[in-house]
Formats: sequence, structure tokens, C-alpha cells
Amino acid sequence: MAKMLEFRQLSKKYPGTVSPAVDNFNLDVEQGELIVLIGPSGCGKTTTLRMINRLIEPSSGTLIVEGRDYRTYNAVDLRRRLGYVIQRIGLLPHLTIAENITFVLKLSGVDRTSRQKRAIELLEMVGLEPAEYLDRYPKELSGGQQQRIGVLRALAHDPDIILMDEPFGALDPLMREQLQEEFKRLQQNVAKTIIFVTHDMDEALSMADRIVLMRDGGIVQVAEPEEILRHPADEFVASFIGRFRVLRQASEVSVGEVMLTGPVTIGAHQGLAQAMELMRRRRVNTLLVRDTTKTFIGMVSQASVRHHFEAGETFKVSMIAEMPQKTLKPDDTALTAMHQMLEGNDLELIPVLNDDGKLMGLITRGSLVGLLGDALRVAAEVDPSSRSSEGAS
Ligand SMILES: Nc1ncnc2c1ncn2[C@@H]1O[C@H](COP(=O)(O)OP(=O)(O)OP(=O)(O)O)[C@@H](O)[C@H]1O
Ligand SMILES: [Mg+2]
Repeated sequence: MAKMLEFRQLSKKYPGTVSPAVDNFNLDVEQGELIVLIGPSGCGKTTTLRMINRLIEPSSGTLIVEGRDYRTYNAVDLRRRLGYVIQRIGLLPHLTIAENITFVLKLSGVDRTSRQKRAIELLEMVGLEPAEYLDRYPKELSGGQQQRIGVLRALAHDPDIILMDEPFGALDPLMREQLQEEFKRLQQNVAKTIIFVTHDMDEALSMADRIVLMRDGGIVQVAEPEEILRHPADEFVASFIGRFRVLRQASEVSVGEVMLTGPVTIGAHQGLAQAMELMRRRRVNTLLVRDTTKTFIGMVSQASVRHHFEAGETFKVSMIAEMPQKTLKPDDTALTAMHQMLEGNDLELIPVLNDDGKLMGLITRGSLVGLLGDALRVAAEVDPSSRSSEGAS
């Protein structure tokens, strides 16, 4: 395979700063490789990307692009070979979505009909109905939609090298996964070389051919995902991975595996006195209400039951049952459950329902804390000095 990019001691020290933002960056990138740059905020990822397309001039060192020192290209030529998705979306506010997507094509003299065709093709690729979006302006799109347009803009002119600075940061998890897969496929089919910046170790592990882990402007480790997991170069890498392991574990465990089965339930037809008695006896302050077919009707709280009971009401619990803010399905991930729990105000529990709305179990704040505790303990056991003796297998 041909070498696409060769970084040679590339360094950048911004004027008036003490330490370099990027310090002796050395790396060879093959054609068609997807390289992920990852590391803490401020470690020099964006600076590295911006040097590649000469938005920033390096203080020393150089870069070879397709065999030629990049200074021998004129800037416009160089940028035509590169697609760049910037960290903050940066759509041009006075251009329509179609014009934004095809901006570079226009600069290259491509005619209007071909540009329109390309914009339609790309919008369809990310599931945005062209008829609806082509003529809108950026401010009429949600943040996530704007971010997808930012990605399309970098693809429109079919560049050899694509630079992406946290391109999926504002997307919901589903769209994020969809675009990750789209990109992986694109890169494999047409051998695009991609330099991809992210904060998200999960994203790095799932997308990268090789991961470049940076710290304080320097490279700490370059390795394939499997290798970096097995043999983190030092404590810093191990702890960087460790923090994400917790989330990885939570995304590999399903709600069905960690839910409490047999929550305290009450039949919809039962009365308030029965509800009071059941809560007292089972020491719970919420009851899940179900009908005779186990279909979930809602929840009642102790406070609400007591209030109506003391007011002398005689109706059945189903009258005061309320649908919860959130419900889960057994095949949702524990990570989803955590997100739901955090989003809901003071949520203590979330019922788990199957597709027919039948009550399968319950996720409580306590059970999630238990799971996180386990995961954190595992993460704490990651010790690079003992792991390196495993050898390469
Ligand atoms: N124009 C500038 N002038 C001076 N210092 C800068 C400038 N741009 C960035 N820096 C500094 O250079 C270092 C690297 O910044 P850079 O934007 O490359 O980090 P990053 O890894 O992309 O961070 P993040 O993950 O937060 O986006 C930081 O310490 C930053 O404060
Ligand atoms: Mg950045």
C-alpha cells in the first residue's frame, strides 16, 4: 500500500505560549487507513488536523502528502485533496443546505445540475429527505442535522483524504452509530484515508484501524484497537481506556440481564386500602399496577395512595395510576437505562415492558449503582505492568 501521509517531526508552538501544542508528531499513514486521534482536551488534536490542511503553519517539521512535501502544493490544490469536517459545524449561514454541501464543487467549477444531483445523493445517504432540506438554511435545522450537513460537505468533492474533528459529537446515539458504519463502509469501499478526532474511546475502538493516543502535544501510543486494549503503553493509557471500559461494559449488558424480576405489583381492580397495606408489608413506596393479563397500567406512589385514602375516596388503584416518564425494554442496554435514569428528574425506578406492554421487571437506581461499581472495580484492576507479561498473542 502506498503511503498517503508522512508526518515528520511536525511541531507547533503558538506565539506567546510556554509549551508546544504539538510536539514532534511522527506518523506514517497508509492509503485507505482510518486513523483515530484521541486524548484529553487540549492535547493537540485539532492543531494537528489544522496543520494538515495548512490552516496553521507548523513551527518545525513537515508533512509529506502522497510523496510530495506539502509545501510544494499550492494551498487550494491541497485543500481540494482534503475534506475537512471542523469541530464546530461552521455551515455558511447565508447559503442553503444544497449550496453548503456543494460549496467546494462550486469553487472547482462544477455545473449547477451536477451539484444539485450530488447534494440529493448525499442527503439521501444520511436519511434527510432532499425535497425538504435542499433549500433550507442552516439555522432552520437542528444541531444534529447541521452536523450531518457538515460531514456531507467534506464528502461532496470526493477527496482522497478526509479530516474529521469530532464530527459526530452532537448526534444522538443511533444516528451516530449509523454514520460511524457509513464511514467505515465508505473508507473500506473506496479506500479513503481518514484522520478522525474523537473524545470517545468507544468510537475510537469501533472505527479505527489504528488509534493514536495523544497527551500534551505528543504521541503516547500508536496501536490497533485490540493491541491498545491488551497492552496499554503506560498508566496514562490504561486509565484512559479504563474510564471507558465502564461504559463499554454497560453497553454490552442488557436491561433484561440486570433488571429485578418480581417487582411488587398490585391488580388494577384493587382498592386504596389494599394498596396501603401492601406497601406497608413489602416496605416499598411505589407499586406497579397491572391488569389481569399482566399488562402494565401505571405506577402509584405511597404519597398519592395515602392522600386519596385519607380523603375518604373509595375508587380502585387504577384511577390514580400514572404512566412513568420512562420505560425500558429487556433488550435495551444498561447504558440506555443509565441515560434514562439521569435524564429523568429524581427517577428511582423504571419499569421494563415487553413489546406487548407486559411488565417484565424493574430497573432501580440501586441496581445500576451496583453494576457501575462492578465495572469500576474491573477498570481499577487494569494494571499495565502486569498485563505486558501476557506477551503478544
Ligand atoms: N490559536 C491559539 N493560540 C494559542 N494557543 C492555542 C491556540 N489554539 C490552541 N491553542 C492551545 O494549544 C493546545 C492544543 O489545542 P487543540 O485545540 O489542538 O486541542 P484539542 O486536542 O483539539 O482539544 P479539544 O479536545 O478540547 O478539542 C491547547 O493547550 C490550546 O490552549
Ligand atoms: Mg479540538
